[in-house]
Amino acid sequence: MRHVTMRFDGSRLELLDQRLLPGKVEYFRAGSYRDVVYAIKEMVVRGAPAIGAAAAYGLCLAAVEYRHLPTGEFQQKFAVALAELAATRPTAVNLVWALKRLESIADAFTGAPADLAGVLEAEADAIARQDAEANRAMGQHGNEVIPQGARILTICNTGSLATVEWGTALGVVRTAHSDGKDIHVFACETRPRLQGASLTMFELTEEQIPATLVVDSVAATLMNQGKVDVVLVGADRIAANGDTANKIGTFMLSELAARFDIPFYVVAPLSTIDDNVRDGSEIVIEERSGREVTHIQGVLVTPPGVDVYNPAFDVTPAENITGIITEQGILRPPLDREIARVKGGQ
Ligand code: MRU
Repeated sequence: MRHVTMRFDGSRLELLDQRLLPGKVEYFRAGSYRDVVYAIKEMVVRGAPAIGAAAAYGLCLAAVEYRHLPTGEFQQKFAVALAELAATRPTAVNLVWALKRLESIADAFTGAPADLAGVLEAEADAIARQDAEANRAMGQHGNEVIPQGARILTICNTGSLATVEWGTALGVVRTAHSDGKDIHVFACETRPRLQGASLTMFELTEEQIPATLVVDSVAATLMNQGKVDVVLVGADRIAANGDTANKIGTFMLSELAARFDIPFYVVAPLSTIDDNVRDGSEIVIEERSGREVTHIQGVLVTPPGVDVYNPAFDVTPAENITGIITEQGILRPPLDREIARVKGGQ
């Protein structure tokens, strides 16, 4: 059974609490935009498309909260809420992309503040619906590069939990499996937060898709043993030249894939492509608390006070990418030209 990642009823956003999975299936109830800010920062909800949709609903909650204020005061408080939501996590572009969609509607709105919330909710619903549709389309396009019997290596969680539903890289896995292909997934555990171990293995187990969990450093061995046919990863932000920010460790997998001549695909909706940044060097990489590394389930596993470097993402250079699987098809090198083509047509 697939669990709903988020649901919105006009006054409350419920988020499947991903901090508790796989042990507990519980929903976090966000009654205000501040709760949504907390949920994104603390990774109750995570994954680029999911935080974009959650932030959009968070802004709806701000519009509901301030609906009785005079226009000037409403606009001031609404702008603060928008800025706080936008600042929750820096790397995934879907967050600001979704907020900008709502902001431009609010800017053009000429009615009373009390009437804005409904209009914004319709746009947030559209973002959610379009994400789900994009994932299904990516699944179909991606399925074309998955051979019968494929052994697929992936990292982090890019499934229904990281999106509104279905998933990006894991969505391709889902489509190939539903298509009857006899596939096998190797899921990297994804230190330090273990999204691969706790979330990807949760989704694969629930759907009975054959899978093996490996620690991240097994990737080279697996590839050297000829056990990987294709690597599928998600993305948090793709630059105009195709350089791709994704979970820390992705760059390493891409280098290994290049060495062993294994196809390496990024699976992401067009909303993840940020053609305002020229290349990966311009992408802001989130650094998270050292505690994520020094502690495992609350237990200190290092000498106290050690220095830690904990970037949450890295950048895979475009040259290592075989193709970017989007809802409009597979973009193949030269990626800069293909990205300009699809983004120009939007
Ligand atoms: O830190 P996270 O768990 O939000 O990181 C998620 C990823 O890196 C995903 O690969 C990416 O957001 C794409 S999800 C479809």
